[in-house]
Amino acid sequence: MRQKVLAGNWKMYKTHSEARAFLDQFIPLIAGRDPKRTVILCPPFTTLETLCAAAGDHFDVGAQNLHWEPQGAYTGEISAPMLLEMGIRHAIIGHSERRQYFSETDESVNKRLRAAQHQGITPILCVGEGLTEREDNETDAWICRQLDHGLEDANLENLIIAYEPIWAIGTGKTCEAPEANRVIAMIRTHLGASNTPILYGGSVKPGNIDELMTQPEIDGVLVGGASLEAESFARIVNYK
Ligand code: 13P
Repeated sequence: MRQKVLAGNWKMYKTHSEARAFLDQFIPLIAGRDPKRTVILCPPFTTLETLCAAAGDHFDVGAQNLHWEPQGAYTGEISAPMLLEMGIRHAIIGHSERRQYFSETDESVNKRLRAAQHQGITPILCVGEGLTEREDNETDAWICRQLDHGLEDANLENLIIAYEPIWAIGTGKTCEAPEANRVIAMIRTHLGASNTPILYGGSVKPGNIDELMTQPEIDGVLVGGASLEAESFARIVNYK
């Protein structure tokens, strides 16, 4: 059976003290969860250490990005060895906000992804169509292109994929569960990677998590806004 993954992407939210307050509330709420569910919290770089110190067996910590070089003159970037020394084993790569606001291309996404894998970090590769592609019936072709470029020369074993339709991110519009299931099945077939966990992301909330997780192809979720509140993210982790 494929791994179930419940991941939170905190984006550019929470200071150190806000992160501490979240953890004090969150950890007891997930204490009784099924140990087969992997929980990953991806905070901003400034709170990685705060989360690593509290993680224990409760959750894993992931970064929101990493550079392809192990070190160098790249102001504002961080590298895999920096994360590894803190015990971090996951990193989100190619989030649509990085592509949209920080000029990430399929080529830079691929460089970051291969560097992560090469150095022992599991990338969480984000793919997903915008509203235009969806309305033009280009969804599947768009995603296959992102996969083909993003995963060039990559290893399909040490990998998590997140299908995040851009029109559903932060908008309150969730992709209907059967449609998310269909796209994720399409991704799995396209890659021929039957063991790769594939997550859904985009307005996941306590109110829709149970239905999403009943879908056979959806192995978990990547959650933005609802991962910022301990009670709502705990409810997502403890889905029924
Ligand atoms: P929301 O859950 O806020 O829609 O964000 C999804 C996302 O971008 C996770 O990476």
